Amino acid sequence: MKTVESARVISNTNISADIYDMLLQSPQIASEAKPGQFVEVYTGSSEYLLARPISICEINGDTLRLVYRRAGKGTEIFTHFKSGDKVRLLGPCGNGYTLKKDKTALLVGGGIGIPPLLETAKQLGGGTVVLASRSKDLIILKDDFEGVGAKVYIATDDGSEGFKGNAVELLRSMGLSADVIYACGPKIMLKFLNQYALESGTECQVSMEERMACGVGACVGCVIKIKNGEDWEHKKVCKDGPVFDGREVVW
Ligand SMILES: Cc1cc2nc3c(=O)[nH]c(=O)nc-3n(C[C@H](O)[C@H](O)[C@H](O)COP(=O)(O)OP(=O)(O)OC[C@H]3O[C@@H](n4cnc5c(N)ncnc54)[C@H](O)[C@@H]3O)c2cc1C
Ligand code: FES
Repeated sequence: MKTVESARVISNTNISADIYDMLLQSPQIASEAKPGQFVEVYTGSSEYLLARPISICEINGDTLRLVYRRAGKGTEIFTHFKSGDKVRLLGPCGNGYTLKKDKTALLVGGGIGIPPLLETAKQLGGGTVVLASRSKDLIILKDDFEGVGAKVYIATDDGSEGFKGNAVELLRSMGLSADVIYACGPKIMLKFLNQYALESGTECQVSMEERMACGVGACVGCVIKIKNGEDWEHKKVCKDGPVFDGREVVW
């Protein structure tokens, strides 16, 4: 069940360009969280009342790990959180991935969509992981994925590390496949990845990122179109997602 918890910051480290790695002691939320779920992080500022959705990157005992990019004012405030500070969290939010532990797994993360796949890989016991980004300095958590037993492939748009091209081009060029694909990243990547999965009839679970307001299903700030027979209906990313079956999304 979703709870509001006053979490204690353990550390908040700048790991690359505008990317930060924050550990928070949050026993209640950590005890219920699943891979692919997210927390709503409050800024603590009366000027920025809306919480910001950040994926759960890792769960270790009573501790949550969040890896976030400084994007605007809200996440800029997060960069000033320091050890010992109290931060209000709401979570765990959303549905998360449905882990198929008896099937082979391919995890595909693009840019700041990489973090939620770490706990996913950990609980799946590894798998094949593709990390894709514009350039080398935006490839994050490679060692962490290897540490949980994953075989990691890198794709960068500018070729500064690994394969030169996008994640789907890498998959095609290497002929990588698995029984189930778990993915998070830019919508355009997810769309082409879903197309790739459809070609071989592979299940593809995609985590969609939409702009959110309430984050708890009370407004319609985050709706996307989901197929419903011959028709479609609106579903809320914050409540019905963020993870959807790629075959059901109206891309
Ligand atoms: C389910 C989910 C999981 C996410 N996980 C992560 C993560 O693990 N790491 C990370 O760095 N970022 C993540 N994001 C994106 C992150 O929420 C935004 O970058 C952040 O809210 C921007 O807030 P800001 O105040 O810094 O920027 P501003 O642009 O000033 O934000 C203004 C408003 O827009 C919303 N907003 C802006 N960009 C986004 C976006 N891309 N998605 C959703 N809402 C947005 C904010 O919530 C806020 O209400 C996630 C988004 C979603 C929906
Ligand atoms: S953000 Fe309000 S319903 Fe999803």
